[in-house]
Amino acid sequence: MSEIPPNFAIPTINWQVPTFLVVTGASRGLGATIAKEFAKKLVEGSYILIIARDKAKLDNVKTEIEKTNVVYVERLAMDLNLLDSPSYEHCFSKYTHYNFRQAVIVNNAGTLGDISKTAVQNTNGPDIKNYFEVNLLSAIFITTAFLNAFKTVERKIVLNISSLAAIQPFRGWSLYCTGRMNCCYTYKEYICI
Ligand SMILES: NC(=O)c1ccc[n+]([C@@H]2O[C@H](COP(=O)([O-])OP(=O)(O)OC[C@H]3O[C@@H](n4cnc5c(N)ncnc54)[C@H](OP(=O)(O)O)[C@@H]3O)[C@@H](O)[C@H]2O)c1
Repeated sequence: MSEIPPNFAIPTINWQVPTFLVVTGASRGLGATIAKEFAKKLVEGSYILIIARDKAKLDNVKTEIEKTNVVYVERLAMDLNLLDSPSYEHCFSKYTHYNFRQAVIVNNAGTLGDISKTAVQNTNGPDIKNYFEVNLLSAIFITTAFLNAFKTVERKIVLNISSLAAIQPFRGWSLYCTGRMNCCYTYKEYICI
């Protein structure tokens, strides 16, 4: 993997300005924790959009955030398997007229997939395509829609959740390792945490 060039400044989130934050896979696990912890740091006037399929679990996360924080929380129950970037534009259209100073997306949704199969057993094209639709293409498409929707917002930050599996192989995890490696496929625009 190439080194990050010395003149590349890694942006950090400015917690002092009204922010639009979107977290995918926020119904449980790491995504729910990121949404809750980031919410504690955001200032009044900020919005958090939490996305996953399970509406009831998203409701719980929203309720927990609203108990202690001043931010607005919206939840969007959807399957992240849309076919292209324009299909994601509706996710952001109702927020683009607010005067946010910063927009942040955390691409966290992901699945391990079927880890019972070793690399030589991954022979089913539709299964493999489906895996990468959810675990790689959706992050690319939603990020493009996000960058387009908030193009007038000066400060935009993309956080892609990667994994140790991006740099270390595990038996049966070939699809997962490949997908997590591609989380940091272009460090000029994407930050990998
Ligand atoms: N756990 C770890 O030790 C670990 C280590 C390194 C990296 N990571 C990475 O961290 C991220 C989160 O891991 P986690 O352990 O918190 O996972 P998790 O508990 O399984 O949560 C995954 C999240 O993604 C959502 N999701 C899955 N498929 C989706 C789909 N088709 N459409 C919409 N949302 C979908 C799930 O929500 P719904 O089921 O409600 O849709 C859930 O909110 C993953 O990207 C993972 O690769 C995890």
